[in-house]
Amino acid sequence: MISKEQILENIIPKHVAIIMDGNGRWAKKKGNSRIFGHKNGVKAVRDAVEAAAELGVSYLTLYAFSTENWNRPKAEVQALMALLVQAIHNEVDNLNKNNIKLLVIGDTASLPNDVNSNLNLAMEKTAKNTGLKLVLALSYSSRWEVIKAVKSIASDIKTNKITPNDIDESLFQQYLETSNMPDPELLIRTSGELRLSNFLLYQMAYSELYFTEKLWPDFRKEDFYNAIYDFQHRERRFGKISEQLNNDN
Ligand code: IPE
Ligand code: IPE
Ligand code: MG
Repeated sequence: MISKEQILENIIPKHVAIIMDGNGRWAKKKGNSRIFGHKNGVKAVRDAVEAAAELGVSYLTLYAFSTENWNRPKAEVQALMALLVQAIHNEVDNLNKNNIKLLVIGDTASLPNDVNSNLNLAMEKTAKNTGLKLVLALSYSSRWEVIKAVKSIASDIKTNKITPNDIDESLFQQYLETSNMPDPELLIRTSGELRLSNFLLYQMAYSELYFTEKLWPDFRKEDFYNAIYDFQHRERRFGKISEQLNNDN
């Protein structure tokens, strides 16, 4: 296990994204319902958020509910939405205490009203905070996001706001849910699944991927430190060769 002291302060990723997976299996192992697993995932969220804030990460994006998760049994979806309302409500004071600003990405229009009203209130109450930006991905999927961006670009061309020639990476980025956010340098996925499940596909073109067998409810600060430590010992070449990296060419 890595302790906080072993982490290099000058190589902290600006943006860490997490696929919080394994709640159902965690509960099943204990002979409990999947919902019990989701409830126990809240503590892990708190730990990840605190660890990120303490290390000076600027953005932490948590995949909390995917577009595809709407296809789960109705009772599980309802329980997840109820849990979300409760967790957001309960955590606002804690977010403020830690100077954390809450943001959301995803198709919020598809969320139940009480989720949206709680979210909006929490975002309002934390809007002035200047520390970590905690980004919840809710009813989010990468393909949904990219299609939405393409539609908006097409519409802006039609109304002469932009021309096809204006389209480049920087313009496209502005049409994504993550406009103005740096790309995640590090992705963490728990539960041993080795896939991206439609999460930030465009933004993760050059992210370092870190997979752990830990099931999400068991994830603690030390697990976050482990992932950061691992990241700090990767060589990020961005297409260059090793020898080029230290001499600025
Ligand atoms: C992640 O845990 C939480 C959500 C997707 C909402 P899962 O519910 O996917 O748990 P497993 O993968 O079935 O164990
Ligand atoms: C990904 O987990 C979505 C979230 C963590 C919110 P899933 O458990 O839904 O992913 P798949 O279906 O196993 O790929
Ligand atoms: Mg899962």
